Amino acid sequence: MMITKPKGCYDIYGKEARKWQYVNQLIDNLMEKYNYQMIRTPLFEATELFHRGVGDTTDIVTKETYDFVDRGERNMTLRPEGTAGVARSYIENKMYGNLPQPVKFYYNGTMYRYERPQSGRDRELTQFGVEVLGTDDPMIDAEVVSVAVNLLKLLGLKGIKVNINSLGDNESREAYRVALKEHFRPVLSELCVDCKNRFERNPLRILDCKVDSEHASLKNAPTTLEFLNEESKKRFDDIQRYLKNLEIDYEVNPRIVRGLDYYNHIVFEIEAAVEGFGSNNVLVGGGRYNGLMEMLDGPSTPGIGFACGIGRIISALEKEGIELVKDDAVDCFVMYVSDTEKEYAVTLVQELRMNGFSVDTEYTGRSLKSQFKQADRLGAKTLIILNDDDLRNNQIQIKNNITKEEQKVDIDYMIYVLDEMLGSMEEECGCGDNCNCGDDSSCGCHHHE
Ligand code: HAM
Repeated sequence: MMITKPKGCYDIYGKEARKWQYVNQLIDNLMEKYNYQMIRTPLFEATELFHRGVGDTTDIVTKETYDFVDRGERNMTLRPEGTAGVARSYIENKMYGNLPQPVKFYYNGTMYRYERPQSGRDRELTQFGVEVLGTDDPMIDAEVVSVAVNLLKLLGLKGIKVNINSLGDNESREAYRVALKEHFRPVLSELCVDCKNRFERNPLRILDCKVDSEHASLKNAPTTLEFLNEESKKRFDDIQRYLKNLEIDYEVNPRIVRGLDYYNHIVFEIEAAVEGFGSNNVLVGGGRYNGLMEMLDGPSTPGIGFACGIGRIISALEKEGIELVKDDAVDCFVMYVSDTEKEYAVTLVQELRMNGFSVDTEYTGRSLKSQFKQADRLGAKTLIILNDDDLRNNQIQIKNNITKEEQKVDIDYMIYVLDEMLGSMEEECGCGDNCNCGDDSSCGCHHHE
């Protein structure tokens, strides 16, 4: 019987994989501008890290982790998110003493959640996330929100909605907790079993219950903003002022409470406001988590961050009709027929690649005619057609596969000719679409519409 991939997982290849590469490169470039450093932490960690870090009352820890006991009888969990691992690493590596503060990290890696598979809810997902540890200046809160917004803007996504809220500091959160309990107590018998548990342990979690989401008590529950103390209010005002300065459109949405336990002060989510995107439309989720370090027995250190699902972002771009990558095109395809030509091809291909060209060649013994077809399938811009007679004369035949012009050149000049040929294809037509059409009126760019 054929073995199939696990539910909620994907094989990503071809053009789809190139979209992911494009997004990853954009992320790396953006992070360089912001001076955030890459951090890589293990794909699995001690189970306890997520229970203590993410929280015992959250869905992702109580219902969705992939847990296993390793051969040394240790309880391990595939990471469902990145924040807890980064916090653990910060403490374990004593980064509070060893690195200039704040530390500004980013990661782009695989997470695992045992969710009911549906569109936008994968069991293996990739998150790009940032975590800034060591400052709680509201300036950084605004910067972190801006990283997420600017990434989506740079990708060309137009329909986004930024929702922010504040849970306040511990004092504000506690006042809110008490008020929520008073609010839910009279209707508790009408709520689901999970909510009854949440009522005792963490009544905030009731607000994002998927089973009771239509119950009136969830809709008219008090909001966090009514319980912010003066200091928390001021923080939230400062962040909003900075966001305005950064020209980030946002809405204060008091219904955003987030599904993880470690948050306080600002929490935010960015939704894709794209038609037909479905209910799993939250692209980015994040917030401040002062206190997480203490929960993990580390020194008191403020932190803030967000994560976004790359898969969801790519789906949103597709829904908006944004083409991230054009069909791949290789710079040169090297063709040969005889054994001696093949012998020459082996080293020529390497030489061209080491000179910076993207090059492919024939590997399956096709006829010359089939090689032309293969070169077209690969979108080869130029062809090098090897021929024993030419090689004896120290010559090589190069063909521009767009204009179909051919040249026989001295091998010593091959690189220059190839460079020039490819350069002529890259001349922009000036239309501003960066279409590289070389002013070819059939290209369909807006200049030539
Ligand atoms: P989260 O809200 O659980 O937060 O996940 C963040 C983002 O990951 C979501 O907005 C979504 O785009 C994506 N995501 C989550 N689950 C799935 C899934 N099953 N399939 C596809 N995409 C998914 C966190 O993970 C926090 N660690 C964020 C954070 C970082 N807070 C502070 N720092």
